[in-house]
Amino acid sequence: MTITFIGHGYVGLVTACVFADFGNKVWVIGHTKEKIERLKKGDPIIYEPGLKELLQKNLKENRIHFTLDYENAIPESDIVFIAVGTPSKKNGEASLDSVFEVAEKIGKHLKKGTTVVSCKSTVPMGTNNKLKALLFRVKPKNAEVFIASCPEFLREGNAIYDTLNPDRVIIGSDSKKATDALTELHRPINGKRVITDLASAELIKYTSNAMLATKISFANFISFYCEKTGADVETVLNAVGLDKRIGRIFMDPGVGYGGSCLPKDVRALIKMGHTLGIDTQFLDGVKSVNEQSRKNLLNKILKHTRDKTISIWGLTFKPNTDDIRDAPSVFVIQELLKHGYTISVYDLAGIANMRKIFADQLTYHVSPYEVVRNSSALVILTEWNDFKQIDLKKVKKLMRYPLIFDGRNIYEPKMMKEAGFSYFSVGRKPILK
Ligand code: UDX
Repeated sequence: MTITFIGHGYVGLVTACVFADFGNKVWVIGHTKEKIERLKKGDPIIYEPGLKELLQKNLKENRIHFTLDYENAIPESDIVFIAVGTPSKKNGEASLDSVFEVAEKIGKHLKKGTTVVSCKSTVPMGTNNKLKALLFRVKPKNAEVFIASCPEFLREGNAIYDTLNPDRVIIGSDSKKATDALTELHRPINGKRVITDLASAELIKYTSNAMLATKISFANFISFYCEKTGADVETVLNAVGLDKRIGRIFMDPGVGYGGSCLPKDVRALIKMGHTLGIDTQFLDGVKSVNEQSRKNLLNKILKHTRDKTISIWGLTFKPNTDDIRDAPSVFVIQELLKHGYTISVYDLAGIANMRKIFADQLTYHVSPYEVVRNSSALVILTEWNDFKQIDLKKVKKLMRYPLIFDGRNIYEPKMMKEAGFSYFSVGRKPILK
C-alpha cells in the first residue's frame, strides 16, 4: 500500500517507519523545511530508542519519503493518517487548529479514486464527523473519501515495541471500506482488534489516558496518607496490588505524571465534561492530586535544604525520552528559581529542550557526578536506569551536604541510611542524619 502520515512527532514518525519497514511506500508530510531536510538525511529529530536505525534502514530501501508538499503524496495514497498535535488551549480544551488545517489540505489534493483518511491525533468526540464534513466539502467531485479514527497507545521510550505489539488496535469508522483497508494495513501488527464507531474510538483514547492518570494519582493520594501516618507507600501498594482485581501496574508514586498526553487529555476530558453538562469532580481530583504531588516535593525541598545551591538529576517527564512537555521538572525548577535557588542540572537526553525554556538560568552538566559538586542537596526527578546503581559514595564526597530528595523512589531508605544520606522520598519515612 501507499500511505501518508501528516506529522512526524513520536506517533507519526514511529508509525510511519514501522509501516515502511513492512514494505509499504510511506510519505511523511511536515511543515518545517529544516526538519524535513534533517529527516531526509536520517536524523529523526526526536530521541526515541531504535528510531534512528529504523529510519535510516527504510530511507536506504527507498520506502520512506519526506516532503513539505501534499501534491505528490496524497493522490497516490490509499490511506492518509493525520498525526498532528492537539495541544491544550489555555482553557484546557484540545486545540484542533492543526487537525482541521491539514484535513483541508488533504481534501483539496484528493484525486479520482478511493482514499481512507484516518485520524491518529487525539481528538474530542465528534471531531471525526466534523473532519468528514470538511473533507466532503473541499474534495474534488470524483474523489471518494472515507474517514476512520485509529487512536495510538504507544509510550515514548518504548514507541517501536508498542507500535508492533499494542494490547489492542482500535479502528473506529462507519465505513466498511475504511475498516477493511485499516484491518489489512494492521495485519502484521499484534494485539486484539476492536472495530467500532467513530465516537467510541475517540472516547477509548481519552478513557485510557484518564484511567492511567487516575491510577497514578490514586497512588500519590495514598502516599499523602503514608507521609502523615508513618505507613510505607511501597509496602501498602505492593500488598494492595496483589489483589488481582486491582493490580500493581501503573501505580508508582512520585512527583506525578507529565508528558504530552496524560496531562493534556485529562484537561481536555474535563473541558468536554463542562461542555456536555457533566460534573467533572472526579477528574478534577485526579488533576489536583497530580499538582499536589509536584508541590509536595517542592515543599520538602524548600523546608529541608540548608542553602540554596542545589543540583537535579533527571529533567524529562520519564526515562528514555528527550521530552520535557509538562514534565514535573519544569514546574519544580520554575518554583525554585522564584525562591532564589541556584540550580545545576543533569539529564541523559533532555538538556537541549530544557535550554530552550531556561537558557542561562540553569547550569547544565554532562556528568551526574560533576553536577552535584558543592551542592547542598540533590533532587531526583526522573528514574533513568543510570542513577539506580550509581556510585553514591562518590556522590556524597562531591556534595556539600549529603541530602537527597527522591521524587521517584529509586532507592531503598535503609540503603540511604547506611550510605550516610539524609533522604526524602515519596510516601516513605524520611531518613534524617
Ligand atoms: C502515555 C500512555 O501510556 C500511552 O498509551 C499514550 O498513547 C500516550 O500517553 P507516555 O506519555 O509516553 O504514554 O508515558 P507513560 O509511560 O504513560 O507515563 C506518563 C507519566 O506518568 C510519566 O511522567 C511517568 O513518569 C508517570 N508515571 C507512570 C507515574 O508517575 N507512575 C506510574 O506508575 C507510571
